[in-house]
Amino acid sequence: MDYVKVSNLQEFKEKTHKVVKLMGRLVGIIRRENGSFFAVEASCKHQGADLLTEYRGGKRAVCPRHKWEYDLESGQCLNHDSPPLKRYELKIEGEDIFVSLLPVSSDAQHLSPES
Ligand code: FES
Repeated sequence: MDYVKVSNLQEFKEKTHKVVKLMGRLVGIIRRENGSFFAVEASCKHQGADLLTEYRGGKRAVCPRHKWEYDLESGQCLNHDSPPLKRYELKIEGEDIFVSLLPVSSDAQHLSPES
């Protein structure tokens, strides 16, 4: 699994999340209330909007365009029938935060760099 550095712990002292672009896809780096982190796809499954634009922390995110709601921890859409958001591996080494280049969900094979 290839990882890329996306941030550091210092950057998250004042924020709950950050959106980065990996392989052309939006990925949200989320800091939980307990200080741990996870990474999840941040493109809405409806029409691809950045669904963390109005996010202010917690497990739920509401897309600003048409209000599809997601549980960020599970990736499940809460108010529409939709495939879940993809998950990314996240690791912390020293002060640096790294995320896997590709998602870890079962359909990751469809997201090769050539696709
Ligand atoms: S683009 Fe997110 S709800 Fe439509």
